[in-house]
Amino acid sequence: MKEQPTKRIRISGSGFYLPDKVLTNADLEKIVDTTDEWIVTRTGIRERHVLSDEQATSDLGIEASRRALKSAHLDIKDIDLILVATNTPDTIFPSTACWIQKGLKAPHVAAFDLQAGCTAFLYGMIMAESLILSGHSKRILLVGAEALTRITNWEDRSTCVLFGDGAGAFILEESKDESGMLSYYWGADGSLGELLTMPGGGSRNPASVETVAKKLHYLQMKGNEVFKHAVKRMGEAADQVLKRAGLKKEDIAYLIPHQANSRIIIATGERAGVPKDKVYANIERTGNISVATIPGCVQELKDQGKLKKGDILVLDAFGAGFTWAAVAYRW
Ligand code: ACO
Repeated sequence: MKEQPTKRIRISGSGFYLPDKVLTNADLEKIVDTTDEWIVTRTGIRERHVLSDEQATSDLGIEASRRALKSAHLDIKDIDLILVATNTPDTIFPSTACWIQKGLKAPHVAAFDLQAGCTAFLYGMIMAESLILSGHSKRILLVGAEALTRITNWEDRSTCVLFGDGAGAFILEESKDESGMLSYYWGADGSLGELLTMPGGGSRNPASVETVAKKLHYLQMKGNEVFKHAVKRMGEAADQVLKRAGLKKEDIAYLIPHQANSRIIIATGERAGVPKDKVYANIERTGNISVATIPGCVQELKDQGKLKKGDILVLDAFGAGFTWAAVAYRW
């Protein structure tokens, strides 16, 4: 629990990158026993982007970071910490943050990864707020980058239709006016971890011929269980950040929920009492891109000229762990 800070951090730049290759539902019909109709009705997804054979998560993150720096009219030399949210690191170590640091040619800038399922980007914003307002960092590059198609089991129709690849980035620094992060709420429940997990390749089940044969290095999910918890926790998180910021649901210009399934997005909006036209969704074109979702949606709203100074945004996420978080933000 934390009171609204008198000082706050703001987003001074943002960027979003989706790889060029597009995988449509029609393409998936050729891979697994599914139909465009099933995928659209049950998930709202029509297509997703897939990274090329030459790309890894850091390559997507580097592109999003360059776009964010450009939008802030800044150089990488102006950044003093690179924080990367990802569930699909290039390598377990070094961190993806270090690969991104190398790609951005930012020697000596501190860099590390943050893993909290699809919620990790919002966890990163919360961490950045503490680091900046305590004076430890001046300007943080927060990246959410994901190559989920690399951990997708293309024989499992219940998961392979859901995910895509992409990256988003924010430059965060202290706000000089009323704009910025107003409140946050976060939580986790590790007792439900097995409902959404990649069981192989870590110290519990180190990679072996057997773990590969059992497909333990792919994402596994009990979809309908995840669904129920996602709606409940994202609804609760939205309520909490409004309360902590002294706001009402009518004050929201846009609710940006994690884009895992259009039915979850609609249910979260209904539970939070926010009208449909104020609930932003791009899942139709991206699929679930996990940590890249929130910065991607913000960037799209910006590009569409929909954000006005003073607009209240509620950013809301849920993911593996389980983890959940929300942030109330004044544009
Ligand atoms: N095409 C056709 N049929 C399918 C497909 C498919 N792609 N996938 C599943 N089905 C079938 C099932 O086999 C089942 O058939 P049966 O009744 O004959 O057994 C039927 O459809 C219904 O299956 P359910 O799993 O009950 O379908 P549901 O409506 O729950 O939708 C889905 C499944 C889309 C996965 C949904 O549960 C969901 O989106 N869950 C949430 C996912 C999520 O929120 N993830 C968030 C975090 S992601 C992260 O953190 C990385």
